[in-house]
Amino acid sequence: MKKRLNIIVTGGAGFLGSHLVERLLADGHHVLCVDNFFTGDKRNIEPYLDHPRFEMVRHDITYPLYIEGDRIFNLACPASPVNYQYDPVQTVRTNVHGAINMLGLARRIGARIFQASTSEVYGDPEIHPQVESYWGRVNPIGPRACYDEGKRCAETLFFDYHRQHGLKIKVARIFNTYGPRMQLDDGRVVSNFIVQALLNQPITVYGDGSQTRSLCYVTDMIEAFIRFMDTDEEVIGPINLGNPVEQTILSLAEQIIDLTGSRSKIEFMPLPINDPVRRRPDISQAREVLAWEPRVGCAAGLAETVAYFEATLRRDGEL
Ligand SMILES: NC(=O)c1ccc[n+]([C@@H]2O[C@H](COP(=O)([O-])OP(=O)(O)OC[C@H]3O[C@@H](n4cnc5c(N)ncnc54)[C@H](O)[C@@H]3O)[C@@H](O)[C@H]2O)c1
Repeated sequence: MKKRLNIIVTGGAGFLGSHLVERLLADGHHVLCVDNFFTGDKRNIEPYLDHPRFEMVRHDITYPLYIEGDRIFNLACPASPVNYQYDPVQTVRTNVHGAINMLGLARRIGARIFQASTSEVYGDPEIHPQVESYWGRVNPIGPRACYDEGKRCAETLFFDYHRQHGLKIKVARIFNTYGPRMQLDDGRVVSNFIVQALLNQPITVYGDGSQTRSLCYVTDMIEAFIRFMDTDEEVIGPINLGNPVEQTILSLAEQIIDLTGSRSKIEFMPLPINDPVRRRPDISQAREVLAWEPRVGCAAGLAETVAYFEATLRRDGEL
């Protein structure tokens, strides 16, 4: 049997965080969830509130935290443009001050620490698919910079703590992930399309819909987190995690219309500023080092997600 660990998950009440909490509890660990509920939802962690190995701390990671643990997963940060652009200065603070606080905590308690970085560090990439050695093309002063540059600076901090203080780090560059417990109104492509389809509203496609995305189902992503965290000390990343299967936004819209049996029509809108045109991970490293690749196909993943969104819309009286 694996050793039972005390694991701190920042952002544990969010989309990815709550799935990670679920998995860590199922694996027999003690989990301490740290979240300020900015974009998190208490309902995401409600099933675990009475669990004997689960604890919840309401805390903003931009302030120091003094707790004990063996491992830290640092996921706290709003992830969708509508949320991270709501208070850009706080987004930078969460990424930079938050990282410093969590790295300081890891150093004090001797914990290994995982950082949820992002494919956004590649910006609008000139190379395709993106490999970890690519330094990216990010606009440092645009409306997305608070997130992109915040995450880039967090990576810098992780590597400096590693070099300077010998901290055990794991930096994952996460590509688009979807699944149940995403926020319905986070403005991301999957949630937008599913809600619009279920409500029989026009499906809003930005640009001509030829831009591509590679979407990873949440349980696949969590499996990669667990494998990466368990690797030997010298494996520090950055490592791309995502699904390399690329599809156009237009084909995604059509697939969701089919799946929901919706009467929605597709409506084309102007492309937002600095929206990346193509994004696909090269996951050779993850395949080799983690013996991992996504297993859940788009049809199965979307079906689970649609079922969750449908239930949530019914609960809220929208359907
Ligand atoms: N979902 C994706 O496709 C994706 C892609 C790339 C990177 N990521 C990264 O993964 C992490 C989780 O993303 P998600 O999709 O679950 O987002 P989410 O918004 O659902 O979850 C983020 C959680 O962090 C919490 N939080 C935000 N600021 C905080 C602060 N200052 N202190 C404490 N808690 C705070 C929120 O309340 C929320 O519960 C983020 O760091 C995000 O940047 C996600």
